[in-house]
Amino acid sequence: MIEQTLVLIKPDGVKRGLIGEVTKRFELRGLKIVGLKMVQVEPDFSKKHYAAHVDKKFYKGLEKFIVSGPVVAMIIEGVDAVEVVRKIVGSTEPKGADVGTIRGDFAHISYEHADKKDKAIENLIHASGNSEEAKQEVALWFGIDELHSYKLSHEDHIY
Ligand code: CMP
Repeated sequence: MIEQTLVLIKPDGVKRGLIGEVTKRFELRGLKIVGLKMVQVEPDFSKKHYAAHVDKKFYKGLEKFIVSGPVVAMIIEGVDAVEVVRKIVGSTEPKGADVGTIRGDFAHISYEHADKKDKAIENLIHASGNSEEAKQEVALWFGIDELHSYKLSHEDHIY
């Protein structure tokens, strides 16, 4: 199934200069970037994006982290894109993320360490968790006029 999914390069990824590296990994896998922008997230918008986490103990730290600098938001399209993108990104806790994934290659912090410091876990990327969440997040972050329709040169081989 052709899907669209939201990816955010969080403030830690932007500040470390990883925009190109992260984007490259999705492009090389053959996925299509159909929307792309840099955004300064405000607290109200953070509460909408992280609605499922607002009541959690770590939310205060999560909001502080996500508003701490600009994020790069992109919509990625491809075959089963939600699942494929999450595989490329790796597991939420960088310490346990497989080497070869973005989090496994560029971060190593643990939940335990983040919790001790009363901070959100800095894990470089947000990627929609499932197809339903992806639909909601695409609509929350991008207007129809910000999404683009075009053909990648290799599309005839896979679609
Ligand atoms: P993300 O994929 O953006 O979705 C929710 C975010 O909350 C997650 O990445 C982490 O940055 C953060 N997070 C999730 N669980 C914890 C936790 N137990 N302690 C600290 N931060 C967390």
